[in-house]
Amino acid sequence: MTAANTFNAPDWLAAQPIVPLGHWPTPLEPLPRLSAELGGPKIWVKRDDCSGLATGGNKTRKLEYLIADAQQHGADTIVSYGAVQSNHARQTAAACAKLGMECHLLLSRRVDRSDQNYQHNGNMLFNHLLNAHIHTFELDDFEEGRLHILSSLEQQGKKVYQIPAGGSNAIGALGYSRCISELMWQAPFTLTQIVHASASAGTQAGLVFGNAAQDYGVDILGINVFHPDPDTLKQRITGLLRSMQDRFDVVQSIENLPIHINHAYFGGAYGQPTQAGLDAIKMFAALEGILLDPVYSGKAAAGLIDQITLGNFDNHEHVVFIHTGGTASLSAYDSIW
Ligand SMILES: Cc1ncc(COP(=O)(O)O)c(C=O)c1O
Repeated sequence: MTAANTFNAPDWLAAQPIVPLGHWPTPLEPLPRLSAELGGPKIWVKRDDCSGLATGGNKTRKLEYLIADAQQHGADTIVSYGAVQSNHARQTAAACAKLGMECHLLLSRRVDRSDQNYQHNGNMLFNHLLNAHIHTFELDDFEEGRLHILSSLEQQGKKVYQIPAGGSNAIGALGYSRCISELMWQAPFTLTQIVHASASAGTQAGLVFGNAAQDYGVDILGINVFHPDPDTLKQRITGLLRSMQDRFDVVQSIENLPIHINHAYFGGAYGQPTQAGLDAIKMFAALEGILLDPVYSGKAAAGLIDQITLGNFDNHEHVVFIHTGGTASLSAYDSIW
């Protein structure tokens, strides 16, 4: 490869410690059949579902920075958090297996499903195969259980590093600051619009921060799939932007950065499929051979499709949909089709 064919992160990102875990750059593919069907701008998909870590997904980028930080702190054990079918938890388990670290996943039952498939298939099956220690709690018992596990690990002399749910803090979010630079480097067109699923806010905060740091001027639309009140998502993104700025100080001011969120595709609750999400999944599969999931990428794709149909992206020649992964949960959702 020549130098021009190699992605080099901006200096401030290249200076951060990183542990390689994924396959980079993930492909950026045109979706000609979906674009023709919808008749709007040309749609492209950034294949972060192909990031390589035990079926891939958006957490791999975050984990590269988080695990590097864990190693710098001398940790031998990772404790992380999520819902029962968390994709973040599964990628964390895979990263730990790859690096020979002990992994404890503390999972909350926040989706109203008690069937075997939801409890044991999909990401849960993979967590098990990846040799993670799995601890599952009702939401109300979570904090007590968490403190108990942390103190027992401490008594065993483990050097624990905690990774927040979704890997979303100032360090994890760096993964998506890197992603937007990777996109700008690889796009064979002028990138002006990104659409993606937004939940624990690290993906969106990282994209917004990287966009501002490099002055790319891209419009970033997060489709809320997690928070019943979208203001909570906005506050979380703002909080992450503040802590990124405190730590890395590469953006002049984060106060007026645009944060665009659409709540129209959330449906009844986190983890509950919507008809529009299922239709979007079928459309991506039938027209482009790409699998999405009903919790995250399917709802985000429903937003992409609807916004194009409404003509809200008509001022863009190209739209990039970041496929953040999630298909590992499909077998836990087999009964919805
Ligand atoms: C498949 C998938 N897409 C999108 C997201 C949302 O990313 P973030 O939590 O960084 O907002 C997640 C994680 O929650 C996810 O697992």
